[in-house]
Amino acid sequence: MHHRNWLLLLLLWQLGGQSFSHSPSSLLLELPQILITLIFAGGTVKIGEISYKLKTPRNPELVPVKYISDSLPQTVAQHLRWMMQKDLLGQDVFLIGPPGPFRRSLAMQYLELTKREVEYVALSRDTTETDLKQRREIRSGTAFYIDQCAVRAATQGRVLVLEGLEKAERNVLPVLNNLLENREMQLEDGRFLMSAERYDKLLQEHTKEELDTWKIVRVSEDFRVIALGLPVPKYKGNPLDPPLRSRFQARDIYYLPFKDQLEMLYTAGPNIAAERVSQLLSLATTLCSQESSNLGLPDFPVDNLLPALHVLNAFPMLSSQQLLQRLYPYSSILGKEGRSAVEGVLSRFELLDGHRQPAPGAILTVSRTEDLEGHADVTLRVADKDITFQVPAGAKELRLPNSSPTFISTPSHSQLMAEMMQSHMAKDICLIGTKGCGKSVIAREFAEILGYSIEPVMLYQCLFHFREFWDREAIVLG
Ligand SMILES: Nc1ncnc2c1ncn2[C@@H]1O[C@H](COP(=O)(O)OP(=O)(O)OP(=O)(O)O)[C@@H](O)[C@H]1O
Ligand SMILES: [Mg+2]
Repeated sequence: MHHRNWLLLLLLWQLGGQSFSHSPSSLLLELPQILITLIFAGGTVKIGEISYKLKTPRNPELVPVKYISDSLPQTVAQHLRWMMQKDLLGQDVFLIGPPGPFRRSLAMQYLELTKREVEYVALSRDTTETDLKQRREIRSGTAFYIDQCAVRAATQGRVLVLEGLEKAERNVLPVLNNLLENREMQLEDGRFLMSAERYDKLLQEHTKEELDTWKIVRVSEDFRVIALGLPVPKYKGNPLDPPLRSRFQARDIYYLPFKDQLEMLYTAGPNIAAERVSQLLSLATTLCSQESSNLGLPDFPVDNLLPALHVLNAFPMLSSQQLLQRLYPYSSILGKEGRSAVEGVLSRFELLDGHRQPAPGAILTVSRTEDLEGHADVTLRVADKDITFQVPAGAKELRLPNSSPTFISTPSHSQLMAEMMQSHMAKDICLIGTKGCGKSVIAREFAEILGYSIEPVMLYQCLFHFREFWDREAIVLG
């Protein structure tokens, strides 16, 4: 689509209202207006004054899609422009910011924009060198080395997205260091990855065949790394090792400015009173502030406000307090002091309405959506009103609620099930509760109503990392 010769997006925003304080006189300076435009034309993408020549990806299925939205806040355009600058200079980048999907989304937006193939890996405490380099697999009695993400990215000229850099343990740091600094890596199967520059120099004195027999492999000049991480010590993790840190160009990625977020939320919730939207956002922002953190309160998941507003938009009569409880289950996870601190903030923004507003009642009906595959129409009764909405559904036959011979439904179960249906409209669900309170049974009942097959996975602290599990599972099945 980038080949079309037209102006796809012309976005003009202005960076107003931001001011710098200037000591000693505390002079307030208005920042000059920066207008960033995003233009696709003739195989080139331009962000502001910087342009990037697109290459046709060899594996278009590895290029991220659907991350770029049609309204691009100015802050996002600035981040993208910075990433483009670094990319053009051949530098790897490190996006640092609070928990949430925003940094990853920026990375994916950038790759979508520049049509780059991605290799993604979520680092964990259990990630080993092998996970990044090569894994040995046995197929019909023979052992193979299978290239892993970093090797594939380096040799195929893809962009390696390393999520959770703060989780990387000491053992993987040398591998990363060498790859980042020298574009070099020694592989288990005897091959040696070498930077394009050094390889091409060798090629002046030796033939390609010779280099092949020496098992030297060229690292593509298009290979880049985008690392994503949390600032440590504010959050838990390993402080970044200074040598590794110096390999990256780092940029702080904080939540979008209030004004941009508000704009986005208004668009998502046209049925919700504007005042209520801004109260919700103010609460979220307050719960992410330094003062809240000093009180020991966890960050509010700001990025989840958007999906929550989809729910609220379909059910504007819902209590804000109960909705917030689903995003930020403070009464289950905080002690008495924490709870009253959060309630203080709720009342400050007039969101303490749990007793005044109705909670969703039971699910009335569930049926297959006629013209949309993989979806179901669900009708809930809330405060004498019946509301029908669509949720994704599984491939199996749907089943009416309260028709299971083994699941016993109390009024509070019915309400929970109705709330889960609402949440399912927008996001994944986590049920929290004391041991043996019925979480697994409820999850199964929910899955059966919507025709999903379930795949229980027991998570233990530090067992193995999910991706590896996923691969193993695929091997067992496949
Ligand atoms: N609504 C219900 N209807 C029928 N049986 C129930 C219900 N709720 C709980 N049970 C019974 O209680 C037992 C514990 O439930 P379940 O295994 O779902 O709890 P859990 O919260 O998943 O526990 P754990 O924390 O150990 O994972 C189950 O054996 C189940 O049969
Ligand atoms: Mg369980």
